[in-house]
Amino acid sequence: MAELTWQGKAVPTSDDSGLQHRLVDQQSYPLSPPQSQPLTIDTLVVSSKQKDTGSQWQNRLIQADRIQALRTLIPEFAGQVNVIYIDPPFMTGRTFNNGSQLAATTRISYHDIWNNSLDTYLQWLYETFYYLYYLLDTNGSLYVHLDWRAAHYAKLLLDEIFSGPTAIRGAGFKNEIIWHYQSGGRARKTFARKHDTILLYTKSAQYNFHSERVSTRRGADRRNHMRRNVDDNGQTSWTIRSNGHIYTYTEDSTMSLADVWSDISHLHQRNPERTGYATQKPEALLERILLASSEEGDLVLDCFCGSGVTPVVAERLKRRWLAIDQNEMAIAVTSQRLLKGTRLYPFVIQYVTTIE
Ligand SMILES: C[S@@+](CC[C@H](N)C(=O)[O-])C[C@H]1O[C@@H](n2cnc3c(N)ncnc32)[C@H](O)[C@@H]1O
Repeated sequence: MAELTWQGKAVPTSDDSGLQHRLVDQQSYPLSPPQSQPLTIDTLVVSSKQKDTGSQWQNRLIQADRIQALRTLIPEFAGQVNVIYIDPPFMTGRTFNNGSQLAATTRISYHDIWNNSLDTYLQWLYETFYYLYYLLDTNGSLYVHLDWRAAHYAKLLLDEIFSGPTAIRGAGFKNEIIWHYQSGGRARKTFARKHDTILLYTKSAQYNFHSERVSTRRGADRRNHMRRNVDDNGQTSWTIRSNGHIYTYTEDSTMSLADVWSDISHLHQRNPERTGYATQKPEALLERILLASSEEGDLVLDCFCGSGVTPVVAERLKRRWLAIDQNEMAIAVTSQRLLKGTRLYPFVIQYVTTIE
């Protein structure tokens, strides 16, 4: 098998995963949003919008570096996460600022610089994938959101990790989804870059996938490669012959969703979903991913949650979630978004501490 290598490539050591660290609930909210008192953990956990499910489960919003948090979660959640979606820094060489209403002035969201070293970035990504693999359930799916800068490297890294010594039959690459959008990409010397890439990898052949939940209606569009028929009742259908079979479709037949997604718009300036957090993704993307690959009650993880799109959508779709970000602004924006909606389970904000 082809393998990607770089200077300093090292497989992370998993022997002490989580043993030196533990997760601790934060006693007070790290930021004071302008029009309210600083929130305490009690305010976050017990809320009038909280439904009583009689369950002990608490969703977790963790402020930590992704590896610190993932290592700490491994003893409790190894092999138990049903869907992982990550939207890591893309290796843009930029620093992203935050225009969130929570911040009095613009503040830095995160750096995506890497000392200008591809080796550094690749090692960082490799370690992230390594720990995520251990958390993923046998029937689980990993979605990795990147763009032209690193998607091709990520694919090789994931191929390696998903075919390692503990690999299960049928594991590995399933889709390269192209999220095509209209904004950005003004270019003079290249074609305009107007898509992101979302890689889908699964841990086995028995992964959860519901194409029917995200399929589209065929509708009445003209189809030149199919034969159009109109029956006595005026009902239109189309037929096509393929491999000796004749397939018939009506306007109401469904089509499996293709791997090019052009129907989900980038968040425009005036979109009410916008939080001001740099690089915020639309809820519609996560909704599609979670509907296709998970069930109610399943566990969803995002270790670069940013403005909280994954926990917010997971919450709405009645999935349980673990969300991580090292940035305090991300934790503040995410918790504010979560507190606006109704919740099936309480959530706690946690940070990682060293065991004495
Ligand atoms: C592209 S943004 C994620 C945006 C998010 N999907 C959304 O829709 O808002 C990447 C995020 O990764 C976080 N991040 C960067 N390095 C990290 C690290 N080492 N550990 C945890 N989070 C990190 C940044 O703070 C940033 O919020």
